[in-house]
Amino acid sequence: MNSSRIAFIGAGNMANSLIRGLLAKGVPAGNIAACDVDTTKLVELQTECGIRTGSMAEVAAVADVLLLAVKPQVMGQVCETLRPLLQTGTLIISIAAGIPLKSMEKWLGNTQAIVRCMPNTPALVLEGATGLFANANTSPAQRALAETILSAVGISRWLGSEHDINAVTALSGSGPAYFFLLMEAMQEAGVALGLEPDLARALTIQTALGAAKLAASSDVGPDELRRRVTSPNGTTQAALEQFESEDFRGLVERALSAAQKRSVELAG
Ligand SMILES: NC(=O)c1ccc[n+]([C@@H]2O[C@H](COP(=O)([O-])OP(=O)(O)OC[C@H]3O[C@@H](n4cnc5c(N)ncnc54)[C@H](OP(=O)(O)O)[C@@H]3O)[C@@H](O)[C@H]2O)c1
Repeated sequence: MNSSRIAFIGAGNMANSLIRGLLAKGVPAGNIAACDVDTTKLVELQTECGIRTGSMAEVAAVADVLLLAVKPQVMGQVCETLRPLLQTGTLIISIAAGIPLKSMEKWLGNTQAIVRCMPNTPALVLEGATGLFANANTSPAQRALAETILSAVGISRWLGSEHDINAVTALSGSGPAYFFLLMEAMQEAGVALGLEPDLARALTIQTALGAAKLAASSDVGPDELRRRVTSPNGTTQAALEQFESEDFRGLVERALSAAQKRSVELAG
């Protein structure tokens, strides 16, 4: 990856975190370029990260990979501007939510190598989770490159079918919001039990962080970790019985199904 030239079209939140992640992984700043309609973002990136910036034509002319990090609603227009600028063998990576490969192929040409990804916002702190799917024009070397780029901001996994992007959107794409909701609810419940709001907030966030780190570093699954903190007839058991009696697992399943259904509708 260190010798590949990567250009970002759109230099907003996601592009910023990917660029910083790539630099942290040792990609030379001279091999990264970006363009954006908002030139203040480019000046900031150039000053803080030392990457190259320029017009879409300038950055596309020398890129092995073009990472499209614009909002879904402008993707069609961006692709149509990009199409005559594409060099043979350039890989396109799209992180836009809800834009199917068939639309990208319509806009860019049906021989173009394209990888579609669904990252999530923890990419901003290099703890993202990304699902990837490549079209048939993508070579094994291009797939490996796409995986390495997305892995600069967390973990990335290949999907068995493009349709699985909807399930990934429901699980990890929207997932951070589910944990934020649980954190909000725990914080409010802590305050209702008499704790100061700042204390309830600090304890909630640290507990979420600690539980996630424990789950990530442990050689057993979350089910066993849960059992290990649940003493018979203890406080945790009292709380968990309440969750289970109100069909907590069923609720989570129904919530993810609703998100998946909405993802399919939006892509249509
Ligand atoms: N943020 C997330 O959590 C997340 C998660 C998964 C996937 N995604 C996907 O990632 C993509 C980027 O999201 P983001 O949050 O990084 O958006 P963002 O911060 O709005 O960044 C997009 C950037 O592209 C610029 N832009 C618009 N039109 C352009 C053009 N024609 N040429 C070059 N640049 C152009 C925008 O400028 P203006 O602001 O001036 O329009 C903006 O600076 C989206 O498609 C989104 O679906 C985001």
